[in-house]
Amino acid sequence: MFSSRLPAHLESNAFSIALAGLRRKGVTLVDLTVSNPTQVGLSYTANLLAPLADKKSLCYDPAPFGLMAAREAIAASISRPDANVNPDLVILTASTSEAYGLLFKLLCDPGDEVLVPQPSYPLFDLLTGLDAVVSALYRLEDHGAWSIDRDSVTAACRPNTRAVLVVSPNNPTGSMLRGSDREWLVAFAREHGLAIISDEVFSDYPIDPRPDAVSLLGESRVLTFTLGGLSKSAALPQLKLGWIVVSGPDRTVADALERLEIICDTYLSVSTPVQVAASQLIAGGAVVRDAIRQRIHQNYRELQRIASAHPSVSVLSPEGGWSVVVRIPETIGEEALVMALLEQAHIVVHPGYFFDIQRGAHMVMSLLPDPDLFADAASKVLAMAEAR
Ligand SMILES: Cc1ncc(COP(=O)(O)O)c(C=O)c1O
Repeated sequence: MFSSRLPAHLESNAFSIALAGLRRKGVTLVDLTVSNPTQVGLSYTANLLAPLADKKSLCYDPAPFGLMAAREAIAASISRPDANVNPDLVILTASTSEAYGLLFKLLCDPGDEVLVPQPSYPLFDLLTGLDAVVSALYRLEDHGAWSIDRDSVTAACRPNTRAVLVVSPNNPTGSMLRGSDREWLVAFAREHGLAIISDEVFSDYPIDPRPDAVSLLGESRVLTFTLGGLSKSAALPQLKLGWIVVSGPDRTVADALERLEIICDTYLSVSTPVQVAASQLIAGGAVVRDAIRQRIHQNYRELQRIASAHPSVSVLSPEGGWSVVVRIPETIGEEALVMALLEQAHIVVHPGYFFDIQRGAHMVMSLLPDPDLFADAASKVLAMAEAR
């Protein structure tokens, strides 16, 4: 009766079942997987949401790519000296997840493939599947710094591959696209007629970027879509405002925009109040953005300090984003450790396999929690990893 776009098996895994059981019993858990910035005790500017009540929002003036005032505000906020964003090339979406869906509809027929980085965040399976697109994995390799395994990109590319996805900073590795990988990827995409989709939602949160880290914003040699959104940049996921910046050769960009206009006009999914309020939300979001920057640095430094007393674990240094990967001895086993942490210490961390981290054993921790909670829980996590 149901579409094969959805997973065939819907059962929860042992970890999710144990977690749900503890929550049902009302056990207090320390959540080191939290990715929702509204639930980690940050303070937002008073009246930040007042612009949503602007009377202008009583008028519905549907525009497929969104209201120009909002597109201008976004273009101004993301432009950089080397990439001046034209508001005409900014398309509003309800979220980054929705942006992927729109782009898969633009680029792919059912059964076509897109190249997806591994490790990366787990939503890609669903995002591609729901649009009847197949994700073909390519690898990121950690040689002290993560970089694209180019052979795996070449091996995954087929005649029906339509796009290559880049996530920079990546979730969960925090790694950023290297300049040399960008050059290679652009040449590869041109040769094989692929578009590039670059998810840069975490670009406002550098931690320890390497000098050769680059963005794809404004890339002009190949059709490129750079994604961002308020969910991360202003820590307001509930407002549902994301964007796509289109760039590339003029003719191809014009062709893409013509088609995207049809798709966006079909849904018109971005609410008017959030568009009217966009410029003030972007300005007001700076306060919480700075607070998050400060917090992720503080938690990361604390984690490094704690780790220095535990020689058998290593913290893989993130270049940006809200999460960090910790390598643990392979003998422990990811599943056994995260289950023990959950059941014995009531601490929630993700195992590396959630994010498809191959080779070795890893845990993934969020850098967003309150610093006192984080320091205490991280000490317990690393001590437990060391002791087992
Ligand atoms: C790399 C990355 N892109 C996109 C998203 C989803 O963002 P949005 O809330 O805008 O859909 C997430 C969510 O955590 C993410 O980690």
